[in-house]
Amino acid sequence: MSIVYPEELIEELRSRNDIVDIVSGYVSLRKSGSSFKGKCPFHTENTPSFTVSGDKQLYHCFGCGVGGNVINFIMDIENLSFVDALKFLANRVGMILPEKDGHADKKKYEEKQIQYNLHIDAARYFHKNLISNKEALVYLNKRNISTKTITKFGLGYAKDEWEGLYKHLLSKKYSVEDIAKSGLVLPKKNQQNQFYDRFRHRIIFPVFNLTNKVIGFGGRVLDQQLPKYLNSPETIIFSKGQHLYGLNNAKNHAKDGQLIIVEGYMDVISLYQYGLKNVVASLGTALTTEQAKLLNRYTNEVIIAYDGDEAGQKATLRALEVLASVGCKVKVLQLPKGMDPDEYIKKHKMEGFIHKIKKGISLVEYKILLLREKYNINTTEGRIDFTRDVAEILKSLQSEIEIDAYIQKVSKETGINEAAIKAEVFRNKKIRTDSLENKTGKIRNTIPYKKDQPIKRENKAIVLAEENLLNALSQDLVLFQKISQHIQWEDFTEEIHRKLARIIFEKMDNKETVIPGQILDIFKREEESRRVAAIFTKELDRELIGKNIMEYINTIQTYKIQSEIDELNQKLKSLNGEKDTETSNKIYIEIIGLKKRLEDLKGN
Ligand code: UTP
Ligand code: MN
Repeated sequence: MSIVYPEELIEELRSRNDIVDIVSGYVSLRKSGSSFKGKCPFHTENTPSFTVSGDKQLYHCFGCGVGGNVINFIMDIENLSFVDALKFLANRVGMILPEKDGHADKKKYEEKQIQYNLHIDAARYFHKNLISNKEALVYLNKRNISTKTITKFGLGYAKDEWEGLYKHLLSKKYSVEDIAKSGLVLPKKNQQNQFYDRFRHRIIFPVFNLTNKVIGFGGRVLDQQLPKYLNSPETIIFSKGQHLYGLNNAKNHAKDGQLIIVEGYMDVISLYQYGLKNVVASLGTALTTEQAKLLNRYTNEVIIAYDGDEAGQKATLRALEVLASVGCKVKVLQLPKGMDPDEYIKKHKMEGFIHKIKKGISLVEYKILLLREKYNINTTEGRIDFTRDVAEILKSLQSEIEIDAYIQKVSKETGINEAAIKAEVFRNKKIRTDSLENKTGKIRNTIPYKKDQPIKRENKAIVLAEENLLNALSQDLVLFQKISQHIQWEDFTEEIHRKLARIIFEKMDNKETVIPGQILDIFKREEESRRVAAIFTKELDRELIGKNIMEYINTIQTYKIQSEIDELNQKLKSLNGEKDTETSNKIYIEIIGLKKRLEDLKGN
């Protein structure tokens, strides 16, 4: 059984949840004219075509065609049903929706809410512990972490106790079952329903999601014990492969469109303290495709700054491939052996680090560099092996210019003739006609920009005229009055346009303001709401619209009359057999009248 909420309630929800606010929780938006632009969260793109309008309370992507109001957005991005999206928005502004049971997702949603609350309570508890624990403060101080940074990242401390957090959560009235589900406690062996804290005597790093909710924790020992870090397990709200540590913050600081990805919590925090705020970490796992997509949503370029050790190299190669496969521009920042970003910035300060970023290298360069380390190019044999392996890498490149540039470099380095290297590269070089998707060894330039299929729209003059008129109609009363002298809602030829026109005309007639976001609720089918959102979000030059209005009206009227003529001609045809001259004469006269009107219109 579905719940029907009164229109006013939905309207209140919408008006209290500003779309620009909501969307910017997920997409980094930049002001562009009267609206905002960002990278579409619903398809992979490099140039922002996702538009959000605060005036209209709508979003629309010119790339893939998605669009709607704030409710549609939450449904899509959070994967929620209509009702759950309403609840989500209600929860956000502290409104309580009338309850009625029967919804399948409701339980899951509520379960998540409990976990979010529980996690923020846990984070507060850990943080409070830290502030009053000398040992932990001394440790952070030793690592140069300032009080300001501690607050910014909500750092905490898990006391050297077995049930500190567990008891605290019980005192906060969470059920044993919910506490167990959080993964912050573990069941005692051989003792049913007995639990102990997962994190003990550790510095705590809360992990936030994109809407700044705590979803899990990492905990570091204060000494040399192992394991160095413990992390929250996967829970209903935490999935390591789908989040990036620090992204909630970094997404608002994607400087020059760049985000830096590092390995560790400490690296993120340390770089932040030195002023580099566009840094995320991949939570101790190899970078996943989901994480790569997430990064690609917020940046033009990712800088991989993993530790300068063998594990870091392996992880770098993998991350390069994963990022390239989602169409992301990537560079590698190379750190000296045995150094991590935290240590590097401490030693070389911000300037040193930025210099390193500037010297970042591409996937191919990075691969060549690894080969250089593998072979001893001081020996002839080493040079040959090195060059042969480089040629193998260059085979995967599409651009001959790029290949040439590398060949020149390698030739200089090894003393091996350019032509010889070239011959090696082009020997058996595969002409790549296969799908790039399931291939490895590709670099950015060879990756076609994978764009979701844009929705096909008829671009007939009539459709365009109607769309632009509807857009203009909703803008102000003056335009409406001008338009409504010539055309009525019934005159719109496309069904969806007619439906929309009717709503606008009625509202305007009653001197009501037209809020596109509100109107959108009437269009329940996704295909419809997308089209309506697209119509409203079009950024049309007002002056130009004013000038073109008569032309649009003319187009519609012409189309209408022409259809009537066509229809009458059709009728005449069917009459041909019978000699009903009276009827056919009448039709002729009608047609002549219509043709005359057509002529008049053309003369306009
Ligand atoms: P690092 O060992 O590089 O840690 O592991 P770090 O963040 O630089 O910490 P410091 O500077 O030694 O204090 C990188 C990341 O790998 C994960 C953590 O997310 C860590 O931040 N990790 C590491 C674990 O999950 N478990 C471990 O035992 C070690
Ligand atoms: Mn480290």
